[in-house]
Amino acid sequence: MSAKVHVALGERAYDVVIGEGLLDRAGALVAPLLRRRRVVVVSDETVAAAHLDRLSAALDAEGIVCHALTLTPGEATKCWRELERVVEWLLAQKVERNDVVIALGGGVIGDLVGFAAAVLRRGVRFVQVPTSLLAQVDSSVGGKTGINSPAGKNLVGAFHQPALVLADIGVLDTLTERDFLAGYGEVVKYGLLGDADFFEWLETNAAAVRGRDRAALAHAVTRSVEMKAGIVVRDETEQGDRALLNLGHTFCHALESATGYSSRLLHGEGVAIGCALAFELSSRLGLCPQEDPSRLRAHLKAMGMKTDLSDIPGEIPSAETLLELMGQDKKVVDGAIRFILARGIGQAFVTSEVPPEMVLAVLGDALSGR
Ligand code: GLY
Repeated sequence: MSAKVHVALGERAYDVVIGEGLLDRAGALVAPLLRRRRVVVVSDETVAAAHLDRLSAALDAEGIVCHALTLTPGEATKCWRELERVVEWLLAQKVERNDVVIALGGGVIGDLVGFAAAVLRRGVRFVQVPTSLLAQVDSSVGGKTGINSPAGKNLVGAFHQPALVLADIGVLDTLTERDFLAGYGEVVKYGLLGDADFFEWLETNAAAVRGRDRAALAHAVTRSVEMKAGIVVRDETEQGDRALLNLGHTFCHALESATGYSSRLLHGEGVAIGCALAFELSSRLGLCPQEDPSRLRAHLKAMGMKTDLSDIPGEIPSAETLLELMGQDKKVVDGAIRFILARGIGQAFVTSEVPPEMVLAVLGDALSGR
């Protein structure tokens, strides 16, 4: 059983297929895209050890020859040096304009390989085979590709939509609990930003999702992808609505920066804590019901997730420093920090009109555990 979400972007339209065992069907699913029976795959060592043999066997079963490059796992791989390595390898493999590059991995591989595909011969098609929950529900869909620069994360990149996304929920079994829950931070974000019924469904099915029950996971991933696809179709290049996908991210980026982008805080963990802070701020501003922040925090706790600043190990800087770090976010427009706030669960909106003293008050209280 699989579900299909169509991302209706005209000549850049594509399908996201979600289901179990898709890796074993990858040959048949990719074949219609190919002019010649040959693909190249880029992955990382951890993901390749777990899944590359299955993918190669599935391609082989359809007579598709596959050559693979494996990179070092981790965020540091999303850099200029590795981009050059991937592009030069693709050229050495004689990848042509009509060929297809497969990105097998989490967000780092998807972003890097997508960007390499975007710049290779002015753009070759690529297929995303996301293997983390975060990549399945967020980074593999929507065409944001890129690398980090010494000046900041994701500062160099391009919009380059994939030709197909294969989200095999079975591969999520190999994730650690921590990585799985970090990805869940992005799932809960979709309910919070635009679908109160989905948030309620997540509350009701928290145990099943956390237990990686197949049916529950399939629904959670499919609904998340449907929501992301809808937003991307409305605003592919983030001129407006797409910014809603950054709910929780303004706080998150400050916290990631304050913790040195280290294992103290994974991105999805920062998103969850950031969403809780965004709802707290919305409530203090009288925008959303007072019970919404506590309802959200109760759900995150029920999932066993980091919820509060005190859940982050080690020292966290002062509220003033965190606010300053928010001001360095790349989403700052004309010097004003852009926040995604909410009028209630499922009703997010974008605003640059938030009094800094209110942000300081929310952060100050969060730091003192109130
Ligand atoms: N991850 C946010 C976006 O794709 O716009």
